[in-house]
Amino acid sequence: MKFFVDTAEIDQIRDLNDLGMIDGVTTNPSLIMKSGRDIKEVTKEICSIVDGPVSAETVALDAEGMIAEGRELAKIAENIAVKVPLTWDGLKACKTLTDEGRMVNVTLCFSANQALLAAKAGATFISPFIGRLDDLNMDGLELIADIRTIYDNYGFETNILAASIRSANHMSECAKIGADVATAPASVIKAMANHVLTDKGLEGFLKDWEKTGQKIL
Ligand code: E4P
Repeated sequence: MKFFVDTAEIDQIRDLNDLGMIDGVTTNPSLIMKSGRDIKEVTKEICSIVDGPVSAETVALDAEGMIAEGRELAKIAENIAVKVPLTWDGLKACKTLTDEGRMVNVTLCFSANQALLAAKAGATFISPFIGRLDDLNMDGLELIADIRTIYDNYGFETNILAASIRSANHMSECAKIGADVATAPASVIKAMANHVLTDKGLEGFLKDWEKTGQKIL
């Protein structure tokens, strides 16, 4: 499973990229707002750091507007994936932009039917939102599994990009289901390293090591 980091914070992207932990980046208008930076400027900087796909989201509501914005965003760098919302107009924009050879990430997906339509429209990525479904007492991970089944049934090549990930557990569950990509905040990716038994074990080893009075360096 590929890891994308869901942020527009340059320091976090650089740190994870230096460690080889990420294969791409996703942003959205809220993350751009949080960064406090100009969308084109910050996206260009992200694209200069990361080789993989960098999602930049359109904000128009009509297909023509999304296509125009998508073409503009795609000028930023070769590795831009234009992000459009899963509306009928978004699907139209997806078809046009993918026909032009651009990567398209169809976002705000909350049902298997929406994912089926995105695949028919030729989306490079479909972004089902796990956390926001869980917030409504629905099962976000079940949606990922359903889309995996449907795409495999028919050999759709659209990549399942599990999004709105809130915990390290979401990451391992997505990997078990077979999501192609998971995008998560840097804090969640880092939390994957944590285990209470690792901390406890380390504490025990260091106590015993102190008793030996030895030094390695
Ligand atoms: C995906 O591309 C979105 O940017 C993101 O995962 C949304 O997550 P949230 O529900 O935590 O805002």
